[in-house]
Amino acid sequence: CGIVGVIGPREAGPLLLDALKRLEYRGYDSAGIAAVGGDGTLSRRRAAGKLRNLEARLDADPLIGHTGIGHTRWATHGAPTEANAHPHVAAPVAVVHNGIIENFRALREKILATGATLSSDTDTELIAHLFAARLTSGEAMKDALMETLDELEGAYALAFAFEGEPDRLAAARSGSPLAIGFSADSVMIGSDAIALAPFCDEIIYLEDGDVAIVSPHQAEIFDSHGRPVVRPRVPVPLQVSLAEKGNYRHFMAKEIHEQPEVIARTLGHYIDVGAGSIRDDTIPVDFSEVSRLSITACGTAYYAGLVARHWFERLARLPVDLDVASEFRYRAQIHPADELPLFISQSGETADTLASLRACKAAGQRLATIVNVPTSTMAREANVVLPTLAGPEIGVASTKAFTCQLATLAALAVKAGVDRGVLTRDNARGFVDGLVEAPRAVADVLHLEAEIERIARIIAPASTALFMGRGPSMAVALEGALKLKELSYIHAEGFAAGELKHGPIALVDDTVPVIVVAPFDDLFTKTVSNMEEIAARGGRIIAVTDARGAHAIGTTAEEMIVLPDAPAFIAPLVMTIPLQLLAYYAAIINGTDVDQPRNLAKSVTVE
Ligand code: G6P
Repeated sequence: CGIVGVIGPREAGPLLLDALKRLEYRGYDSAGIAAVGGDGTLSRRRAAGKLRNLEARLDADPLIGHTGIGHTRWATHGAPTEANAHPHVAAPVAVVHNGIIENFRALREKILATGATLSSDTDTELIAHLFAARLTSGEAMKDALMETLDELEGAYALAFAFEGEPDRLAAARSGSPLAIGFSADSVMIGSDAIALAPFCDEIIYLEDGDVAIVSPHQAEIFDSHGRPVVRPRVPVPLQVSLAEKGNYRHFMAKEIHEQPEVIARTLGHYIDVGAGSIRDDTIPVDFSEVSRLSITACGTAYYAGLVARHWFERLARLPVDLDVASEFRYRAQIHPADELPLFISQSGETADTLASLRACKAAGQRLATIVNVPTSTMAREANVVLPTLAGPEIGVASTKAFTCQLATLAALAVKAGVDRGVLTRDNARGFVDGLVEAPRAVADVLHLEAEIERIARIIAPASTALFMGRGPSMAVALEGALKLKELSYIHAEGFAAGELKHGPIALVDDTVPVIVVAPFDDLFTKTVSNMEEIAARGGRIIAVTDARGAHAIGTTAEEMIVLPDAPAFIAPLVMTIPLQLLAYYAAIINGTDVDQPRNLAKSVTVE
């Protein structure tokens, strides 16, 4: 899941370990480093589990050499054991890999047929064998690399070190991101700018199909046809160096608490607060020319789309198609000329979302993306880029990126309403004024943290929890369930409150907490009826509501999290916060790894 590499004047081992620590946030389950000594000796250390295991191994038995590669692995082919950890070696090649090689079985048979023995279950080891065979037959490095890549089907970012080559590394990118970083004395390879930021001044983002041959002080880059190319060298983005925990115990806590500030920053980008209007120049889309919106995303970003569908329909009378990217990309897609495809992604790298974006692009559509990482592949490939200004999000479970996606989508929906003649300037002003209140409303919710922590104690011992709501609050309920399951490993299911009778009610008993998202909106009384049905069956209701709602719910709920009254339009933003905190505290009580929950990855660059 994370790749690093270095050629420079310092010992590679400790430097690579430091860089890998900055990639820990992506989620991983084993790690390893290989270095090449001045005499050409290649050696490696690997360990299952967390980086501290690898660190202990390196302390006991340091690597020697100023050139090396390192990796944190999120298992795809083969269990997260030491034997399957990268780097994989087939002399003289050592390789680290992100992605999945899809013609793995055919390649494996081909290699085994040559009499070679394999020491892992991975697809990655096969790449080392293919490359090594070409090098040992005397091919030049670049040719051997390009021919090896020609044999691979699937997505990859790769970095290589070579026995006998203390001054050379190689890298290749197809589908998974990879960058080359430069400082005064070193050249580095990294799967994102966050890994490289503290060590480098400038960065080159490799394009799909690029390969790089790295030597001291320089990187030669070739495109997929093997032609030398010059890619722009850009300064390391400043914000990535801010990826520190500060006084917080977890990145997630820090990111939850940053929300008033980053939502305000994001809104400030899209809204002219004084004029009470949307800044048209920041949203270069004329919605009067769009007759359908198609939203595609994964995970939490998909739920942002699910909320936004209500906004686009209500404020702009704009029909919305919505799907998760892993489904969208394989559907028999229809690409009407007057449709605007919109892709939502924190990382801008998620494999399924990127593939969906490319499918729409290939069909000739003009498309937009809402992304948090401005240098990401999706940001570079979309026609219209709508940034969320959440800053680097390190916790694997998305929090501030989600609420900033909502803020952006809300601004977009207001603009669509105006463009389509559904909202007058005055109506729009009402919605804009509501949005402007969001940062303060979110800050008010954060003051309820101690109360929410107490209520998390009811949820933490449960083995199942249910989350329900109606309208936009249904999407918030789904996101709340996702947060709880990701962080605390409690099975959680989110559903439309109206669907209660069609299945979930069978699960209700006095051990199952039911978290109900119930702002005092036009669907409130319907949701309260569903609460009554749960209470009648001994279910334990935790209602997330506002002051007006609390009055009406009365004693039906066992617990209530009562949020300050806020405009109905921004309820999804505000109601999300207590659900994030419930999941956070349930995880702490259950002792799970908050920032890096097991089996999850931050940036899912494999499909
Ligand atoms: C992973 C992360 C989620 C995220 C999803 C989509 O599953 O753990 O937090 O919502 O990917 O990621 P994206 O970067 O496209 O928003």
